Amino acid sequence: MDFKSYIRDVPDFPKPGILFKDITPLLQDYRALHSAADNLLKDLEVGGIDKVVGMESRGFIFGPMLADRLEAGFVPIRKPGKLPYKTLSESYDLEYGTDTLEIHVDGIAKGDRILIHDDVLATGGTALATTKLIEKLGGLIIQCNFLIELSFLKGREKIKSHEVKALITY
Ligand code: PRP
Ligand code: MG
Repeated sequence: MDFKSYIRDVPDFPKPGILFKDITPLLQDYRALHSAADNLLKDLEVGGIDKVVGMESRGFIFGPMLADRLEAGFVPIRKPGKLPYKTLSESYDLEYGTDTLEIHVDGIAKGDRILIHDDVLATGGTALATTKLIEKLGGLIIQCNFLIELSFLKGREKIKSHEVKALITY
């Protein structure tokens, strides 16, 4: 399936000069949605992953869907102040300033085999902070998995000690 044909370019969103990759045409089409999930899991086996970790908010679309297919649990990583229980935090650099991500301290047990999923790998800041949170809790990262990789932003280099898979590359 030509997945790129289901991604819509939206110019000047969310700011002037940014060409936004809109995945909603893919989500709206059952065959494309189903096939995208199948392909994201191509190199993984049911039973090989204990938890899928997804990052707020767009990692919450495919994350639980992949977890269900892998017969794994789902663990959300959220922006600050959103998780109700005890959390571990990790800050990362943005173009201007910093941002923080949080995970529940009991979300991952030592030795858990983890699949990270997010919709887009751009600069890799979000993914790198996520890998740090998981490793601090003793999780073993099996793969970092993305629907879209913006390869010109070189995010893959930030997480190069891990296996990285992307369905669509620009
Ligand atoms: C977007 C995207 C990824 C992240 C990738 O999320 O969904 O999570 O940016 O960028 P990076 O590789 O440069 O870190 P965003 O923070 O815009 O929030 P959202 O998912 O809630 O829309
Ligand atoms: Mg996001």
